[in-house]
Amino acid sequence: MSKLYVVGIGPGSREYLTLKALEAVKSVDVLVGSTRALELFPEAQAEGIELGAHNVQEVLTRAIREAASGRNTAVLSTGDPGFSGTLKPILKLRDDLGVEVEIEVVPGVSSVQMCSAKLLIPWDDADIVTMHGKGNSGNVLKLLDNGKPTIILPNLGVKELADFLMDSGVEPGRRIAVCEKMSYPDERVVETSLCDVCGMEFGYMCVVVVY
Ligand SMILES: C[S@@+](CC[C@H](N)C(=O)[O-])C[C@H]1O[C@@H](n2cnc3c(N)ncnc32)[C@H](O)[C@@H]1O
Repeated sequence: MSKLYVVGIGPGSREYLTLKALEAVKSVDVLVGSTRALELFPEAQAEGIELGAHNVQEVLTRAIREAASGRNTAVLSTGDPGFSGTLKPILKLRDDLGVEVEIEVVPGVSSVQMCSAKLLIPWDDADIVTMHGKGNSGNVLKLLDNGKPTIILPNLGVKELADFLMDSGVEPGRRIAVCEKMSYPDERVVETSLCDVCGMEFGYMCVVVVY
């Protein structure tokens, strides 16, 4: 039976790919991923299918159907597929479609792990929250005063998150860190206060820690 691999590609630079990810990509007939993810595997011989924000359902459905029809397929997922990644939508689609397909997850280094490493945070001593694609959630507020750092994947951006936290009563002087584009040449780690990040520009790829 052919397989659908859901492959974690780590934070983005090739240095953080696992041997298992390279092996899985080498073995498949069809390779699905964002432009940036596909570019990580220039040696791949598989048919490439681009996954973008506009075609997620359509392309993941195709990936499941390709695997079910006998073509080994890999879906590339940023970081680890199981944390705010493509594993959840793939499992849901498989169930909705009622398709029988063998799925193997290849774990990757999550942005949460990278951020913990950069900031020397043992992550069993932190709370981890994703708001990515879900909207700001008041649930995070309950965690902020328990003495542990809170590692957050923002919904839209750092400024929007900082505004939300301050509007919800978090002290503007609260210490925070932003890890942007980790593992890329233009990676940036900024340690500052909540109010200060509001005046700074950050891109889409950021993990925020509230201390
Ligand atoms: C769809 S989520 C995927 C999370 C992923 N599954 C993981 O384990 O890191 C995308 C978000 O992950 C974070 N992210 C992924 N790669 C990153 C990187 N290299 N640097 C900073 N944040 C990153 C950003 O918050 C980004 O908006």
